[in-house]
Amino acid sequence: MRTEYLICDPQRPDPEAIAKAAALLRDGQLVAFPTETVYGLGALAFDEVAVARVFAAKGRPPSHPLIVHLAELDWIERVAADIPPLASRLMDAYFPGPLTLILRKQGRVPANVTAGGDTVGVRLPAHPLARTLIRAVGAPLAAPSANRFTEVSPTTAEHVLNGLGGRIAAILDGGPCSVGIESAVLDVTTNPPTLWRAGVLSQAALEAVAGQPFQRPRQGATAPSPGQHPRHYAPRARVELLPSGDVKGLESRLARWRAAGRRLAALTISEITAPPDATLIRLPSEAAAYARRLYAALHELDAQGAEVLVVEQAPDSAAWEGVRDRLTRAACQSPEFDAEASERS
Ligand code: TXA
Ligand code: MG
Repeated sequence: MRTEYLICDPQRPDPEAIAKAAALLRDGQLVAFPTETVYGLGALAFDEVAVARVFAAKGRPPSHPLIVHLAELDWIERVAADIPPLASRLMDAYFPGPLTLILRKQGRVPANVTAGGDTVGVRLPAHPLARTLIRAVGAPLAAPSANRFTEVSPTTAEHVLNGLGGRIAAILDGGPCSVGIESAVLDVTTNPPTLWRAGVLSQAALEAVAGQPFQRPRQGATAPSPGQHPRHYAPRARVELLPSGDVKGLESRLARWRAAGRRLAALTISEITAPPDATLIRLPSEAAAYARRLYAALHELDAQGAEVLVVEQAPDSAAWEGVRDRLTRAACQSPEFDAEASERS
């Protein structure tokens, strides 16, 4: 399949590009589009056949539900059966924005959107291009991150093209995403509410609006939320995570892997001395700026063929929760490295 590449200024969306993308979506095709968090792979949420194409294009197992994206807040009644007061408060505070709420679903939401469950993830993105596109389609879009299953989410149209080019009908290029990591996913159908996935909105900030503490999924539990798949958000390289500020540790791991002849890269906030043949990417020491650049850095290192990526964990504070979560997941080791890992002292 030829993937149409449509460039579009988010501030002044080109009506022709929007019309083209909307027509493809209404026809049941897949179109990737920017949101403020990451690029999404959109399909008509109420069209079971279109939704099935999303799973095929991503290579995503059907047990992983999709988030439904709205153009207007009042569309929520088309998708959700019940809006508890707690959800209304959170929507008043954080919609539009990088928050997904899990609610009871309306009967017409197809089973493949929700992985057969009776809840649905709903999000009102803040990105002007996302909203303009969804409005032009006139119906909610189911949209996971626009990457192949288990790979790093895309924060530019080029990332999408590299992962899904030839497998989807079109990509709407609206430039890089401003948030850079996926939305927080909060289930308000459980009591207490369950924060399935951390985002740039801190748990404490969300709890303050909700007026109650949340639960977090147990480590290793068979969770109904697939973002819980431990190897989500992982680059191809083996990732080693070292504590925040452990400059000596980072340097000695690099020296060790270099001796083992591995193609090396490092991702840090601290200033470190890396071997000359290692690629060193230093990211900002401010959380929002770091989040914005993280996935582009991981995509770049993947493209360079890094085999081992030594990463400095982010600081342990509320602003960094989402980033720490993604780095922890990225460090989940792939089986083929286990033998080598056990050789480590
Ligand atoms: O920022 C984002 O959320 C991006 C943009 C495109 O909106 N989307 C995204 O979608 O990251 P995806 O499919 O890659 O991740 C969706 C997350 C998964 O962790 C999934 O488990 C969870 O949302 N989710 C969706 N529906 C759910 C449901 N009914 N119950 C529990 N978790 C759900
Ligand atoms: Mg994803």
